[in-house]
Amino acid sequence: MNAIETHGLTRDYGKVVAVKDLSLSVKPGTVYGFLGPNGAGKSTTIHMLMGFIKPTSGSASVMGYDIKTQHYEIRKITGYLPERPAFYDDMSGRGNLEYFGKLIGIEDVEERALELLKLVGLEGRGEDRVKAYSHGMRQRLGIAIALLGNPKLLILDEPTTGLDPQGSHDIRELIKKLKGENVTIFLSSHILHEVQEVSDVVGIIKDGRLIVEQSISEFLRSMEGGKSIVQVTASNFDDSHVELLKKIKGVCGVSRNDGRVEVVVDDPALAEDINIALVNAGCRVRGLTEVMPTLEDAFLKVTADSKEEA
Ligand SMILES: Nc1ncnc2c1ncn2[C@@H]1O[C@H](COP(=O)(O)OP(=O)(O)O)[C@@H](O)[C@H]1O
Ligand SMILES: [Mg+2]
Repeated sequence: MNAIETHGLTRDYGKVVAVKDLSLSVKPGTVYGFLGPNGAGKSTTIHMLMGFIKPTSGSASVMGYDIKTQHYEIRKITGYLPERPAFYDDMSGRGNLEYFGKLIGIEDVEERALELLKLVGLEGRGEDRVKAYSHGMRQRLGIAIALLGNPKLLILDEPTTGLDPQGSHDIRELIKKLKGENVTIFLSSHILHEVQEVSDVVGIIKDGRLIVEQSISEFLRSMEGGKSIVQVTASNFDDSHVELLKKIKGVCGVSRNDGRVEVVVDDPALAEDINIALVNAGCRVRGLTEVMPTLEDAFLKVTADSKEEA
């Protein structure tokens, strides 16, 4: 059973089609990066999954439950961090956790609250009023609240938007930690490198349509037309070395800037052949690494392609 499955999910707001014929699936135990620019339809999709709004057409299930008829069950087993989580600002972080925990009937709520404060790195600040919390602390408290019921699925709607680099880093580390505990995570984001860092699969949504759904590594490779790039650092690289590399079978291109050379290859295993050829030709190779194109490059490319088709 998939953790999330949607079939032709569509939602109109009058003339605006916020989500259009969306079909995606999220495997249990994975982090699914749901990536798209502002207004793409990410929050609308999540609101349908949680049963806050009804689809205009199409269907979906969350942990096997139907979003149209079983949203009570869905909300019970799914942790959800809204785009703008709301708290009781005059209460402490611990107070908020205990309050929301009691609402959903958590046993030993005091103990659970302390455990969660620790998990999200708010121990020591649990007694402070939420109104004194920074944006990053609020997001972490929001995640702690989402985790109260020990969910197997966590839906995070742009958890790092507006955070400083340290704050975003902390949230990504937390996502990795939760993944290690076998929580399935549906992560909506418009921040490309963060999805790349923590996700197994990326689904790219634009103008309400899913334009890509692939494993991150497959996706990045397909963007390069199946090619990989091997980056070579060497102190005495010259034109003769360029010619030498071009003769190796499977090398498709060589480009040079300063001490760095990028070799486009069919197969990253060719790094070894490249190294041997260069060293034999007297080249002092300092390093060889396979470089992945960033999701940002890839994202710009697919969104540009889909624009041309439209
Ligand atoms: N309640 C609403 N009423 C009318 N239009 C809406 C409403 N919510 C979202 N939209 C529109 O639907 C589209 C998708 O919005 P949203 O799902 O919030 O995108 P994202 O979360 O990816 O930024 C946007 O064009 C937005 O203006
Ligand atoms: Mg949104």
